Amino acid sequence: MGRSPFDPVAADYDAGRPSYPDALFAAIEEAARPLRGAVVLDVGAGTGIATRQLAARGARTVPIDFGELMLGRARARSPRLTCLQADGNALPIRSGSVDLTCFAQSWHWFDQHEASQEVARVLRPGGCWAAWWSHAWADGEVWFDTYQEVMEAACPGYRQHHRDPDWSEEGIASTGLFEPGVRTVVPWTREVDTATWLAEERSKSYIAQLAPPVRDRLLRRIGELLVTHFPGTPMIVPYRTRMWLALRR
Ligand SMILES: C[S@@+](CC[C@H](N)C(=O)[O-])C[C@H]1O[C@@H](n2cnc3c(N)ncnc32)[C@H](O)[C@@H]1O
Repeated sequence: MGRSPFDPVAADYDAGRPSYPDALFAAIEEAARPLRGAVVLDVGAGTGIATRQLAARGARTVPIDFGELMLGRARARSPRLTCLQADGNALPIRSGSVDLTCFAQSWHWFDQHEASQEVARVLRPGGCWAAWWSHAWADGEVWFDTYQEVMEAACPGYRQHHRDPDWSEEGIASTGLFEPGVRTVVPWTREVDTATWLAEERSKSYIAQLAPPVRDRLLRRIGELLVTHFPGTPMIVPYRTRMWLALRR
């Protein structure tokens, strides 16, 4: 089992990352089944953001992650939660026992072939795979376009268009064990203060892995940008959460 690249930034992750919009869970219920009473695996659960939201809707949710410190944050927020520290590419779960597997902001971290086979194995017939990502979508706003330029210049491999891949073609579909996938886009608005936004920046893997002087320079530059455009005011940021769903045959 590998080490989580997020463990060193677990505190910032816990402080800075937003939860998911209610409409996302409504879309899952519409495509799959009611969450109340459903057996759900939250794979790559991290600090448990989606776990808590699913549990609040009555789902019997088990968070799985290989990050000890990330899961520690989930446990600290929900002391009675049973968490599994495990590799999501080899789920320690009985075959055909799960109604829903969720990958909130995490599917791209898994081996597409192995994880897809594992999801197909643990889901019961009619069970649902769901993977989603939230992205700020303030394209055309000066601060945001500048922010994207700053990020692309500082972080090797970071490209704004990375938020655009089509996850329905790979992995899950290639197993031949799922109905054709459904894609849902949920637009929403996030109101956030600049300190929380900066905590989120520090929690991003492609920022955390920069050499410390480069990382600190980048964070200072983002901080200046935010102070210029949001002086003493909360940021109001358009978001999109994009979700892919597929039902197990
Ligand atoms: C971007 S975070 C998403 C966390 C959480 N789902 C959320 O909504 O914020 C990705 C998570 O996937 C976990 N992860 C990555 N590869 C994994 C693997 N092979 N097995 C288990 N967890 C993994 C990381 O430790 C991290 O907590």
